[in-house]
Amino acid sequence: MKFFVDTADVAEIRALAETGLLDGVTTNPSLIMKADRPMTEVIAEICDVVDGPVSAEVTATKADEMLAEGRKLAKIAPNVTVKVPLTWDGLKACRTLTGEGTMVNVTLCFSAVQALLAAKAGATFVSPFIGRLDDIGLDGMQLIREIRTVFDNYPDLSTQLLAASLRTSNHVRDCALAGADVATIPPATIHKLIEHPLTDKGLDAFLSDWKKTGQTIL
Ligand code: G3P
Repeated sequence: MKFFVDTADVAEIRALAETGLLDGVTTNPSLIMKADRPMTEVIAEICDVVDGPVSAEVTATKADEMLAEGRKLAKIAPNVTVKVPLTWDGLKACRTLTGEGTMVNVTLCFSAVQALLAAKAGATFVSPFIGRLDDIGLDGMQLIREIRTVFDNYPDLSTQLLAASLRTSNHVRDCALAGADVATIPPATIHKLIEHPLTDKGLDAFLSDWKKTGQTIL
């Protein structure tokens, strides 16, 4: 499973890129607002740091305007992935942009049939939102499993299942178990993935025993 980070914070992206584990980045208008910087400048900087796909979301609602925005965003760097909403206009823009060789991420997916539509429109990625379904008492992970089954039923569909709106390590684990192609994860959750009390306890014990030997490796 590929790991994308869900943020527009360039310093955070730089730090995570240094781990060598970062496969891409997703942003959205709310994350750009949080970064409080011009969008095109931020996306260009992120594309300099990360070689993998970098999602930049259009804000128009009509297909022709989405296309104009998408084409402008796609010019920033070859790894820009234009993000469009899961609406008829978004799917129309998706089909055209895909035909022009631009990667497209269809976002705000909340059902398996919506994901099927995105795949039929030629999306590179479709982004089902797990946390937001959980927030209203539904089972976000069930949606990931359903989309996986649908895509596996039709191997000619090449759209990657990009699990979004992840909040916890368990979400990440369950996405991997369900066969998501990509998980986009907020930085704070990525940092938590490595944590386990037995890892810390075990390392403390090893280091304390090693000290007692009086040895050094170098
Ligand atoms: O980028 C889309 C998605 O990951 C948003 O997550 O936490 O705002 O539901 P969240």
